[in-house]
Amino acid sequence: MVKSIPCHSAASCFILYNQRMFLVTGGTGFIGRALLRHMFDAGHPLRTLIRPSPRTPRLPLGVPLEVAVASLNDPRGLRAALGGVDSVIHLASAEGHGNRGDLLSTDIEGTRNLAEAAADAGVKRFVYISQLGADRMSAFAVNKAKGIAEEHIRRSGVPFTILRTSIVFGPEDHFTLPLTQLLRAAPGLFPLPGGGRAVIQPLWIEDLVTCILWTFENPEMENQTYEIGGSEYFPLRQVVETIMDVNRRRRRIVPLSMPQMRALIILMDAMFPNFPFSSYSLDYFSINRTCPVDNLTRAFGLMPARFTYRLEYLRRTPWTERLSRWSTAQRKKYAEKLRERFPALRPPE
Ligand SMILES: NC(=O)c1ccc[n+]([C@@H]2O[C@H](COP(=O)([O-])OP(=O)(O)OC[C@H]3O[C@@H](n4cnc5c(N)ncnc54)[C@H](OP(=O)(O)O)[C@@H]3O)[C@@H](O)[C@H]2O)c1
Repeated sequence: MVKSIPCHSAASCFILYNQRMFLVTGGTGFIGRALLRHMFDAGHPLRTLIRPSPRTPRLPLGVPLEVAVASLNDPRGLRAALGGVDSVIHLASAEGHGNRGDLLSTDIEGTRNLAEAAADAGVKRFVYISQLGADRMSAFAVNKAKGIAEEHIRRSGVPFTILRTSIVFGPEDHFTLPLTQLLRAAPGLFPLPGGGRAVIQPLWIEDLVTCILWTFENPEMENQTYEIGGSEYFPLRQVVETIMDVNRRRRRIVPLSMPQMRALIILMDAMFPNFPFSSYSLDYFSINRTCPVDNLTRAFGLMPARFTYRLEYLRRTPWTERLSRWSTAQRKKYAEKLRERFPALRPPE
C-alpha cells in the first residue's frame, strides 16, 4: 500500500516532481530520520517503507513524503513500494531492538528480498549502511548478519554501494544519548566492559548523511564497498569521560569483565524493558572498531567533524531557560490567536 502525504507548498511539490524518486527503509530510525530531513531540504522526492504495525510510525515531523507500508518479507508489497523508484537507501535493521529483534528475518532475509525486488524493478543504485567488521564468518551476531546481507546484495545484480560505517553520533543517537542518561542515573559508579579499552571512531550523523547522498552523484562508486568513520580514535573510556565533562557529572569508572557486563545488561534488560543497551551493544564494544582515519576524506573529499566539537545536543538546558522559551512561545501563540480574531490588530503590510 502506498499512501501519499501532501506536500506543504506548490513550490516544493514542483521541485519534488522533477527529481528522481528515492525509497528509504528504516526512515523511522536514528539515521533514517536525519536522512529524510536532509533529503527533503535538498528537494528530493521521497518515499519511505515502513512495516505494518499498530504503533504510529516515528517519522520526522514537517517532512512531506510518500509512505509505503509493507513487510520486508513480503515480495509483492516490496514490488509495489518500488514502483517508480530508481534509488534505494536501505537502513532497516532489527539491531536496535536488541535481543527482541530478529536479525535473520529483518537484516538477512529482508535485505535479500529487497535487493532482489530492486534488481527486478530496475533500480539504478542500492545503498546499504553496513557496519565496520561486517563479515559472514564473524563470531558477533550483528557483524555476521551484516556480512551475509552484503553478500545477498552483491549477488542480487542490483547496482549497489555499501558503506561500512563506524558508530554514528548525533541528536537522538543510540550511543551518546543513552550513555548520558545512564550516567545521570548511575549512583556514583559507572561500569564499563574491560574498563573501556576498546577503541572506537565516532562519525557525525550529518557527515554520514552527506556521504550517503554523494554516493548517488558518483558513478565510480557503483558496486563498491567503503569503510568509513570519524576523524579521531578514542578508547570508550575517554568517550565516557568526555560525556561526563559535557554533563558536569563525574562517576567512578568500574572495569567489569565481558561475562560480568553481559550478566548486568541481561538483568537490566529484564528489569527495564526500554533499557538502551543490549548484548549487541556489548559485542560492539568488545573489540576495536576502526578504519583508517582518512578513508572518508579520500573517498568523499569530506573532512569529518570532530567528536568533542559536536556534543552541544547533550547539554541539558537549565529549567529557567526552558521556562522562558515556553512562555515566549505561549505569548506568540496568544498574540497570533488575537490577530486571527481581530484582523484590525494586524500590523500594516
Ligand atoms: N547507529 C549507528 O551507530 C550505526 C552504525 C553503523 C551501521 N548502522 C546501521 O545503519 C542502519 C540504521 O541504523 P539506525 O541507528 O538508524 O537504526 P535504528 O534507529 O534502530 O532504526 C532501525 C530502523 O529499522 C526499522 N526496522 C526494524 N525492524 C524492522 C522490520 N522487521 N521491518 C522493517 N523495518 C524494520 C525500524 O523501524 P521501527 O521504527 O518500526 O522499529 C527503524 O526505522 C542499521 O542497519 C544499522 O545497523 C548504524
